[in-house]
Amino acid sequence: MSRDPRFDILFEPVAIGPVTAPNRFFQVPHASGATNAMPRVRAGLRGIKAEGGWGVVCTGACSIHPSCDDAPLPYATLWDEDDIRAHALMTDAVHEHGALAGVELFHGGGAVLNRATRLPPVSPSGKGWMATHTTFMSSLRPRAMDASDLRDLVRWQGEAARRAKRAGFDIVYVYAGMGYLPYEFLLPEYNERTDAYGGSIANRVRIVQEMLDATRDAVGGDVAVALRISLEELRGRPGESDETEAHEAIRLLSPHTDLLDVKMDSSPTDCGPSRFREEGAHEPVVDFVKSRTDKPVVGVGRFTSPDAMVSQIRRGVLDMVGAARPSIADPFLPRKIEEGREDEIRECIGCNMCIASWHEGVLVRCTQNPTFGEEWRRGWHPERARPAGSKDRVLIVGGGPAGLECALTLGRRGYAVTVAEAGRELGGRLLFEAALPGLSAWRRVVDYRLGRLAQMPTVEVFTESPLDADQILEFGFERVVIATGSHWARDLYSDLEVPVEASDHPAIFTPDDLAAGKAPAGKTVVFDFDGYVMGGLVAERLVEQGTDVTYITPAGGASVWTVNSNEQPYVHRRLEEAGVAVRTLERVAAFEGQTLTLAHIFTGSARTLDCDALVVVGARRSNTALFDELQARRAEWEGAGIKSVDLTGDALAPGAVAHAVYFGRGTAEALDGEPLEVFLRDAPFYTDRDLDRLIPKARIA
Ligand SMILES: Cc1cc2nc3c(=O)[nH]c(=O)nc-3n(C[C@H](O)[C@H](O)[C@H](O)COP(=O)(O)O)c2cc1C
Ligand code: SF4
Repeated sequence: MSRDPRFDILFEPVAIGPVTAPNRFFQVPHASGATNAMPRVRAGLRGIKAEGGWGVVCTGACSIHPSCDDAPLPYATLWDEDDIRAHALMTDAVHEHGALAGVELFHGGGAVLNRATRLPPVSPSGKGWMATHTTFMSSLRPRAMDASDLRDLVRWQGEAARRAKRAGFDIVYVYAGMGYLPYEFLLPEYNERTDAYGGSIANRVRIVQEMLDATRDAVGGDVAVALRISLEELRGRPGESDETEAHEAIRLLSPHTDLLDVKMDSSPTDCGPSRFREEGAHEPVVDFVKSRTDKPVVGVGRFTSPDAMVSQIRRGVLDMVGAARPSIADPFLPRKIEEGREDEIRECIGCNMCIASWHEGVLVRCTQNPTFGEEWRRGWHPERARPAGSKDRVLIVGGGPAGLECALTLGRRGYAVTVAEAGRELGGRLLFEAALPGLSAWRRVVDYRLGRLAQMPTVEVFTESPLDADQILEFGFERVVIATGSHWARDLYSDLEVPVEASDHPAIFTPDDLAAGKAPAGKTVVFDFDGYVMGGLVAERLVEQGTDVTYITPAGGASVWTVNSNEQPYVHRRLEEAGVAVRTLERVAAFEGQTLTLAHIFTGSARTLDCDALVVVGARRSNTALFDELQARRAEWEGAGIKSVDLTGDALAPGAVAHAVYFGRGTAEALDGEPLEVFLRDAPFYTDRDLDRLIPKARIA
């Protein structure tokens, strides 16, 4: 297939100062969770994006000095010579495919809390970022920077840039975004300085200019200098000599950089979930940038549609199409457009499990792309799978996210696969979930897989085909995979914070009941101790249907875990707009119809509430009845020709769709290979210098 000429513009090279990107696809800085402790994992996941056609591939935020210690969040470092080798592995992997490698040098200032290095945090005027997100809270506050601190900051940037060049990077960033130190200088709320670095916008951008200049001095003429800057707040402030302070900042900073990478200010706006933010949502904030600079401009917006990308370029909004999530969900997105296969793009669904995993402090994971982070340690590839190890035929029972992913991987491996789905439609839990308010993009998990499976001659898919153990034992498939999903339990929540059985009162519902079309009547309480999206979504859906809803949770906020996925602020806003009363720190102790007994989770004090119906969104249980029966009849397997029966997806362990898809892939890989618990363990590089320095000290201790 050949490329649609409409998209030719995306494949034009772009000069960035002294270097040239081979096309306009720019994987902007995003953390991977690998850190310098897993250099091979990191090189694997960046290299695969270069293989997939991204013209520029960047690191995530990379700390320039121990006074920027973001632990327990997983961040990279370029603190000294010993860090260079870990990054060189990544730049080699990127260069191997003809892409440019960029590094986002960063100092977090008052937004990092130096929990591990225990150095005093710094900020322009001693103000911290008082975020409510637990990973950004601390009992320590930053100190105000004096003149020598400013000189140190500029020097550290230059020194880290020099190391970056030695590591092989082609583009070296200054990061002035999202509450981090250079950004703190940009806003008067953080920056109350009365010296040359505070006051007017010309003064407030000065430290950024100096950091950019120090970067250029350090990297010489053959490496490009880039600036990543958040513009949302500045865009809202009238300028002294131009329309807004954002316009002024761009004009003042443009001469000091070779590239402008522009975006919104906070993780929930910058990396907004699709439930609340559309593709291209940054445009109203960054649309002016090209009018104030002659340097190439890159911007983001969860771009998955090549038409939306072309539109941004043709309309003069951007020169390069920036992407974090779309490049995680599909590392081969550019290659697919280039080869006229854009209908094969595995589109990001905007669920934000990726950023959630980073907030949880681990390797980034993706719902759509279960291979992300597994390229090196498990040898998984987003587009291919290793050849089948036998001619065994595989029966997959269940056509939800796990069953479909398992079928796709086995099909790619060349196995003959039959999927039997009991329901009328494929998609499992997503048939209900993707129909909830704002979640239509989640349907892409099913659509992508069905689209690919339709092209596979060795995969057959049957709906309305419920199977029992007798039938499976009769069929004679050598391999059986059970992907029968899970169900929501009616359990309440004990004072030990453990799910406990509820009464079987007919006015108690679960999300499965709602999916089956049952509707609670009258005053309804949604009791959410699941904490992920379902509780808030169910409340929203019931309000849409005209129900009077109160939302109650034992947690401190609604959909509490979604603080990780950047959804929580929007969930609260949405519930407030919908008129849902939100009650926190309470658990439902009992419900027997008409009256709900609540207990405060800390004090235990009890109160009652009039209530006609209760929807419990709490525990989930795997559907293992079929698997259990087959296990109990193991003695019959040999006679039936069955070699293995595996459990996968929610039936193995109920969780977010990301986990189900991952288990589906894992089961397909493990069919004749390594089980999930076997993987290569990465290790940091230690140099002789390290060991000389570290080991004697450890012995003295
Ligand atoms: C997992 C993850 C990690 C991120 N880490 C960083 C980071 O280290 N530095 C940064 O500037 N932005 C980071 N971001 C923000 C992205 O670079 C990007 O601005 C944002 O996700 C919007 O782009 P998108 O819609 O293409 O995802 C991260 C985003 C994600 C999803
Ligand atoms: S986890 Fe979700 S939001 Fe993140 S890249 Fe994957 S599909 Fe997109």
